[in-house]
Amino acid sequence: MVIRKIKNLGHYFLVRSRIAAFSQIDGWLTRVEAVGLFHTASKLPDNAIVVEIGTWKGKSTYCIAKGLHKGKIFCIDPFDASGEKESAETYQQRKGVSPLLVQFEQRMKELGVHEYITPMKGFSQDFVGKFPVINFLFIDGDHSIEGCDFDFMNYAPYLKKGGFIAFHDYDPKRPDLGPTWVVQNKLLSSDSFKFINLYDTLWVGEKIA
Ligand SMILES: C[S@@+](CC[C@H](N)C(=O)[O-])C[C@H]1O[C@@H](n2cnc3c(N)ncnc32)[C@H](O)[C@@H]1O
Repeated sequence: MVIRKIKNLGHYFLVRSRIAAFSQIDGWLTRVEAVGLFHTASKLPDNAIVVEIGTWKGKSTYCIAKGLHKGKIFCIDPFDASGEKESAETYQQRKGVSPLLVQFEQRMKELGVHEYITPMKGFSQDFVGKFPVINFLFIDGDHSIEGCDFDFMNYAPYLKKGGFIAFHDYDPKRPDLGPTWVVQNKLLSSDSFKFINLYDTLWVGEKIA
């Protein structure tokens, strides 16, 4: 468990208690990753624009929303349980009965964060260029190398200097995963990004140029 740069353990437990309800939402985030998203969002300026690619039922969205002071999270997802072939079967098994978008919106309302959230029903390919300024880009949609690289190449250019980028499912032992490949082949060799922290498999960087 990696929680470097969260100021201290007291702060970590305080954040954990602020987002305790995240455990009621279906998804794949660990507690440490949830804290990492909250912590990253809490460093954003007022009225920040967050773009989340891959929302599912809103586990990550909720953590980001709780960390934001003010601002908007644009949540891009087809909300139909589709995805790259390695994940599609799991998504189908876990989608539940009512439509995913309905489940997502209801849960965000119940948890009191819906005013921060704008769902964008569709694939990341459908919204390229729609967000001219992004303060925090969270990539957790298509996990194939091609899909993740597409998201990075088409959305990161709009990330503001000083803004943050995060990938879920970064695993140095799995270079075949899109997030690992993009971080290792694009981010780490770039002068435009610096590594900020790793929270379990949540890799966070900052745009510096
Ligand atoms: C791993 S889940 C996201 C989990 C979510 N961030 C959480 O914390 O619970 C991936 C989601 O991305 C969606 N997805 C797959 N390909 C996508 C694409 N090209 N654009 C946007 N969303 C995509 C899937 O349908 C699925 O809902």
